[in-house]
Amino acid sequence: MHTFTTTIALQNYLQGLQGKTIGFVPTMGALHVGHLSLIERSIAETDITVASIFVNPTQFNNTADFDKYPRTIADDRTMLERAGCHILYAPETPAEVYNGYTMQTFDFAGLDSSMEGYFRPGHFQGMANVVFRLFDIVNPNKAFFGEKDYQQLALVRHMAAKHFPALEVVACDTLRESDGLAMSSRNRRLSDDERVISSNIPRILNSAKEHNITDAKQLKLWVEGEFAMVPGIRLEYFEIADGNSLQVVDKVNSDSRMFIAAYVGDVRLIDNMAAQ
Ligand code: PAF
Repeated sequence: MHTFTTTIALQNYLQGLQGKTIGFVPTMGALHVGHLSLIERSIAETDITVASIFVNPTQFNNTADFDKYPRTIADDRTMLERAGCHILYAPETPAEVYNGYTMQTFDFAGLDSSMEGYFRPGHFQGMANVVFRLFDIVNPNKAFFGEKDYQQLALVRHMAAKHFPALEVVACDTLRESDGLAMSSRNRRLSDDERVISSNIPRILNSAKEHNITDAKQLKLWVEGEFAMVPGIRLEYFEIADGNSLQVVDKVNSDSRMFIAAYVGDVRLIDNMAAQ
């Protein structure tokens, strides 16, 4: 695997690969099996796979969260190498990424008005700017994103359709631990007790799905009631929204998804699932 810490060296190398299709997996490191599944998919669908590791400060609306974000670059490199990734772009400073770039304000046509967009002001603008910048640097044919960050995926699709029309954004299934907890870099910050408590998130979501309640308000009340009974979890939001428009719905149907953010200790976890 070739590792580049400077943008210019990466771009020079990529220029020599004319005619090859490029798959791109942007990450913030602290890699887990979920990330590796994106790498595998990229390797299967393109000639050259580029991964990036950059903990992007502009998408953290909370500096404590940025400081605590796990950084495990040596382990990440080993995992990527073993997975067969061809190129790692691991810039060491924000200046390396953003030099010469002017931050933009994206219009997401309302896709960002609820859930993560509402509870993490500024997060999606920061995320979209870094993804735009990375797309610009890497110029991939396909980019791979996990459905765990469903709203992020929708916004990236929206941004890419306008600014990178030739790029295909590929949605990849959420990978889960054996108790159903969605894989996330943040899971490693959970204590053993908190890790056990966290498994209530997929448990309650699965159970909500099985209840087959079609009135969204009723379903929301039921889920909120379930979470209120679990000590150690603080629900930030639970919403049922249309899987395409991300607008909150009144009636649950086969296009609806359940979205959740909850704190276990000081770790903020998100998840989503089809509602039917
Ligand atoms: O999902 C993430 O890890 C980040 O938001 C991303 C897409 C790498 C941008 O920093």
